[in-house]
Amino acid sequence: MKKIISLLSAGILLFIAGSCAQKPGEISIVPMPNDITVSEGSFKVAGAKVYAAPELDKDARAWIMDFATRLTTVTGKASKYSETPVKKGICFLSDSELGPEAYTIDVSKKLVVVKASTAAGVRYATQTIGQMLPPAYFGKDRDPKAAWVLPCVSINDAPRFGYRGLMLDVCRHFFDVEEVKRYLDLMAIYKMNTFHWHLSEDQGWRIEIKKYPRLTEVGAWRDSTKIGAHRDAKAGYDHTRYGGFYTQDQIREVVAYAEKLGITVMPEIDLPGHMVAALASYPELGCTGGPYSVRPTWGIATEVLCPGKEKTFQFIEDVLTEVMDLFPGKYIDIGGDECPKVEWEKCPDCQRRIRQLGLRDKEGLTAEQQLQNYVTARVQKFVNDHGRKIVGWDEILEGDLAEGATVMSWRGVKGGIQAAKRGFDVIMSPNTYMYIDYYQTKDKEREPLCIGGYLPVDTTYVCEPYKGIPEEAQKHILGVQANLWTEYISTNDHLEYQLLPRAAALSEVQWCDRSNKDFERFKAAMRHQAAIYDVLGVKYCKVILGEPAGIEGYEGLLANYRDTQK
Ligand code: ACM
Ligand code: ZN
Repeated sequence: MKKIISLLSAGILLFIAGSCAQKPGEISIVPMPNDITVSEGSFKVAGAKVYAAPELDKDARAWIMDFATRLTTVTGKASKYSETPVKKGICFLSDSELGPEAYTIDVSKKLVVVKASTAAGVRYATQTIGQMLPPAYFGKDRDPKAAWVLPCVSINDAPRFGYRGLMLDVCRHFFDVEEVKRYLDLMAIYKMNTFHWHLSEDQGWRIEIKKYPRLTEVGAWRDSTKIGAHRDAKAGYDHTRYGGFYTQDQIREVVAYAEKLGITVMPEIDLPGHMVAALASYPELGCTGGPYSVRPTWGIATEVLCPGKEKTFQFIEDVLTEVMDLFPGKYIDIGGDECPKVEWEKCPDCQRRIRQLGLRDKEGLTAEQQLQNYVTARVQKFVNDHGRKIVGWDEILEGDLAEGATVMSWRGVKGGIQAAKRGFDVIMSPNTYMYIDYYQTKDKEREPLCIGGYLPVDTTYVCEPYKGIPEEAQKHILGVQANLWTEYISTNDHLEYQLLPRAAALSEVQWCDRSNKDFERFKAAMRHQAAIYDVLGVKYCKVILGEPAGIEGYEGLLANYRDTQK
């Protein structure tokens, strides 16, 4: 990229002969490859043969076959897939020297040579190629009039961070399998590799667990939902039953779909707090025995799982056993955030457990806070004994935390800095940069109602995950993730509007070397990205294009507030 910038700043523009999708100075790939040199000329893609070297693995070759099919569909000219070498065409070769997510692309007028050592590298190469082609590449329809040519380039690319995540809360509002797949498609375009699926909450339990059928018979449904802003008492409730869940077959379908895109799904079962929907289903798991109802409003609930009772641990282990059967990835997220201790202070079972464990207030932590450490440690051991690792929100750092846990820093970056210094692996998802449920503009006339905050796309973009981390601890920063909580997001349109273009900005934080980041270049690339969103039919915030905020058909924030006052 440095090379393009210097060419441009020197005023030396190279022009590609004939019509083409992107001129050299307009390369609009996001995330921008870490090393790219553009030269003169272009390669005609329509009708080009596609060769996959037999040394590439089965997944890589299957992906390349799909790539050839896609080219045929969108260009309207057959791109034949072959495993015997071709003199002219697009050739995918195996190169064991390249890292597991690296790839190279060399485009000359007659030949495109792609090299990778894994299916992941092959996938990323095709995403890069796709972004150099007309936006119609991402559609379902034939567009023979588009300029199906690639600029002559030489790319040598690999990601900065190995963990590139995006979270979706399907509990506050439920999103069906089709929308989850769209979310995954967008993640794949941006070369992300981990989908963090927040599946349990106070407001709804979303995953079928065979041993506990009431979790979805009862826990997946609430009788009412808060209207308007959380603190706006006058706005009231809608008194309408709301909910949904994924069957285990649907979960398997999503996991398989993600896997094909090179994305691992990391499930989150948030415990011991954020468990009201489970308590409504099985009240005996709480300190008081209930009754409880699936929570109709937002904020933090004081009702949490009772760690004084053995059956609570039986429940957790049974649930996680089914979860681990469904999700093959190495990480199981056990949440751990926002767990009030007021019930534990009064509960005879919890107090007995505290006495048995000999917990006393120490080092600024109450015995009840240490009881949460006990829960984390016990669940961690169970997960580790099954060959997996836990991830938890940064609250799990308070007090003792056993080796091998990964901490997700969400209350700013301080938890992440502390965790890395203590030798824990860290995923940076600070609310200060990565909470994309926050407002992205200040346009109260047009923004749909949100949870609050203010996080424009350029703030997400400038996140520097190593800031404040001593050099020797930087190896613990596995990567970066943005989180999309959905208290105020009840439609697919609004979900996508919150996501884009901030997910694109996130992808450059995750992928691009520090020296390769440039917000002005990113902003210029957004016109092409927006054209891709249009082809995909997804909503996005257009402010970065100089257009107004808001979603067509939505009233703005003030209107939302006015509605809540009625
Ligand atoms: C969180 O936002 N409570 C992790
Ligand atoms: Zn209790």
